[in-house]
Amino acid sequence: MNRVINVGYGEHTPERTPFLNATASAKLRTEIDEQLDQQVVEWYANVSEAAHLEGKNVDSEYYKRNLIETAWRIRMLRVAEAKALVEIAKVSPEAAQVWANYEQEEMLHDELFIADLEKVGVSREQFLATEPYLSTKLLSGYFSYLLDHEGPLGVVAYSYLVEYVNVKLEPRKLEALKGSVGESNIGGQINHSHTDVNEDHPGEVWEAVRHLLRSEDDIAAFKRYLREHQTILGQYFEELHRDTIAKAEKQSA
Ligand SMILES: [Fe+2]
Repeated sequence: MNRVINVGYGEHTPERTPFLNATASAKLRTEIDEQLDQQVVEWYANVSEAAHLEGKNVDSEYYKRNLIETAWRIRMLRVAEAKALVEIAKVSPEAAQVWANYEQEEMLHDELFIADLEKVGVSREQFLATEPYLSTKLLSGYFSYLLDHEGPLGVVAYSYLVEYVNVKLEPRKLEALKGSVGESNIGGQINHSHTDVNEDHPGEVWEAVRHLLRSEDDIAAFKRYLREHQTILGQYFEELHRDTIAKAEKQSA
C-alpha cells in the first residue's frame, strides 16, 4: 500500500492519457468559444456603457479608475492564482507547467497599467491610496472560495474568458483609445495586449483547461464558471459606471 496522494494525473497508475484527446479538445474549444461569443453579445446589451472605451468621448474619471482597478485586480488575483498553482500541481503536472508559464508572463503586468496612469496624471502614490472597489474584492474572494470549496478549474476558467475576450476585443478598444486618450499615453495597455496576442494566451490557458477537464461534469462546471465570472465582471463595470459617469451626470443635473 502506498498512501501518497495529490501528486498528479495517474498517480497510482501509469495511465497519463488526458480525458480529452486532441480532436475532442479542439471540438470542445469551438463550442466554448461560441458560448463566449454569445456572452459578449449579452455583455454589450446589458452592461451600462459597455462600449464606453470604444467611443470617441472617453470620460476621464472612468478611464483612470478602470486602470486603477485593473492594476489592483492583477495584484490581488496573482496571489489567488499562485495558490491555484499548488492545487493544479496536485492533479495535473502538465496543467501546472502551462499555468506556471502563463503566470510568469502575466505576473508583473500591473506595472503596465500603473505606467499608463502616470501618463494621464495619476501618480503611483494616488494609485496606492485608492482602495479597490467592493466588486474587485469580491472577484478575488470568489477565487478564494473556488480554491477552498470547488477546486482550481474555476480559477483557470476566468483566465480563459479574459484572454479570449481580450484577444478579440482589445485591439478595437486600443484603436479607439489612440484617438481619445492618445497613442503616447496607452503604451502599457498596448504592450499588455501584444503579450496576449503574440504569446497566444487563449491557446496557452486552453492547454491548462484541457488537462484539468476529467469528466462531462467538469465540462458542465467549466461552462458555468465562464458565466459566473462574466456576472461578477459585469458587477464591476456597473460599479465603475455608477461611481464615475452616472455620478457626474447626477451632480451636473
Ligand atoms: Fe494575457
